[in-house]
Amino acid sequence: MKTLIFKSAQQAEQKASSLIMEMVRAKPDCILGLATGGTMERVYENIVAEYQKGGVSFASVQSFNLDEYVGLAPSHPSSYHTYMKEALFKHIDIQTQNTHLPKGDAADPVAAADAYEALIETSGGIDLQLLGIGKNGHIGFNEPTSSLRSRTRVKTLTTSTLQANRQYFDSDEEMPHFAITMGIESILSARHCVLLATGESKADAAAHMIEGPLSAICPASALQFHQRVTVILDEAAASKLKLKHYYEQVHPAGEDRLYA
Ligand code: F6R
Repeated sequence: MKTLIFKSAQQAEQKASSLIMEMVRAKPDCILGLATGGTMERVYENIVAEYQKGGVSFASVQSFNLDEYVGLAPSHPSSYHTYMKEALFKHIDIQTQNTHLPKGDAADPVAAADAYEALIETSGGIDLQLLGIGKNGHIGFNEPTSSLRSRTRVKTLTTSTLQANRQYFDSDEEMPHFAITMGIESILSARHCVLLATGESKADAAAHMIEGPLSAICPASALQFHQRVTVILDEAAASKLKLKHYYEQVHPAGEDRLYA
């Protein structure tokens, strides 16, 4: 696991954006795994800014998002379909038919989850998977005690996740309690995982993810099993790492060295 620590959240977000754009430039028809949430907003802003300068094209890129709420139509203002359209897709040259999210409003969400997993596989698998992390250690919506071998499926959201995401829904509206999410094994199947965490509220989860123990109580700790993971943190999110000085010695100021 490569742990890159940056002085500011802005620098950390810039690093995550750069890794995505480097992937797209190196392999224009790559398959990106994308995430939503507050942390990713600036990442997508950076990408849109670079696209507008002519620095990158997504014309041949395919994307698969991690998750979607069960019961929400793509047009729902709080759906992740809407989030992705507003934050990224409508601003860049990605082809709509090449963007994929789980079908939260499917009549049979269980079958829709299986179909999503199969589509990722038949498309050739994800080259770079962007990830955030929940305060409770979730990745995607793989809540604590999710099977470490799980594939795309329906998960019940925890109170912690419902509270964190309540702000994205109207106050008089009931928030979905279920989501279709790529599983932990689905995420581990990506060829490169890039996880971005900023702010003190993520410090405990980041420490558990990186320094263990490996346990289903912190789903992100499963990334310790992956051969190629880049964790990008700001100082606040890195503040509870026992070996922080070691990571800074290997990667001064977040420098992305080959040896890790
Ligand atoms: C959403 C997702 C989640 C978020 C996590 C952090 O697609 O995969 O795992 O990355 O809940 O969310 P924020 O960035 O809002 O703290």
